[in-house]
Amino acid sequence: MKLILLGAPGAGKGTQAERIAEQYGLAHISTGDMLRAEMKKGTELGVMAKSFTDKGELVPDDVIIAMVQKRISERDCDNGFLLDGFPRTVNQADALKTISDIDMVVNIDVPTERLVARISGRRMCPGCGASFHISMYRGSICDKCGAELYIRDDDKEETVYNRIKVYNEKTQPLIDYYTDNGLLKSVDGDKSPEQVFESIKVLLKELK
Ligand code: AP5
Repeated sequence: MKLILLGAPGAGKGTQAERIAEQYGLAHISTGDMLRAEMKKGTELGVMAKSFTDKGELVPDDVIIAMVQKRISERDCDNGFLLDGFPRTVNQADALKTISDIDMVVNIDVPTERLVARISGRRMCPGCGASFHISMYRGSICDKCGAELYIRDDDKEETVYNRIKVYNEKTQPLIDYYTDNGLLKSVDGDKSPEQVFESIKVLLKELK
């Protein structure tokens, strides 16, 4: 399976991607995670990317496309992959066509008014990358690996509003883009993570 997960910031792409990748044995390619790993290492790419992510802006297309192209060529993608956070612009979607074919685009649909609450309550684990929400987990220590949880730099309220604005302007057009080529399927993301996953599994049965 070669899948794309689409959705606004905070829609639950990362939460569902973890479950899908595990259940179907797919490589999970999150461009946000890849950029945060570069930032943590303090590489030139990481420093450059942080100047965009901290403002809620997109990192330039050429940088992201090169990063994804290299990642998809790695061996673990031979059995299928799940793109989480890519493509995010029509330009990136056009570039992806030249890199790989895609079996399905799953759009996680969540009303805008829910997104800010989801993102502002998010807590991240620096050890294993797990993501939590304070409404579901009140601890300050990761229950999977024991590391202390932190708040992402781009989860500040003013940045979140800009991320949603940028999503509406640059990423939402991909809904029409993938509807027009027949690849788009949507799930109602305004349900529990378990219910959303069940809806996605129903869609993925079509590909088996
Ligand atoms: P990225 O890391 O991809 O961020 P994002 O797309 O804004 O998405 P988020 O990670 O905020 O949310 P999510 O949908 O994964 O939700 P999650 O599962 O965590 O990108 C960060 C930045 O990097 C971008 O702003 C950009 O600058 C740059 N970048 C990345 N890719 C790029 C690209 N292709 N091109 C250019 N720039 C790029 O869930 C959110 C919270 O809600 C969590 O607390 C979770 O526990 C909770 N939650 C999840 N599901 C549910 C549910 N069903 N009910 C209740 N709560 C839920």
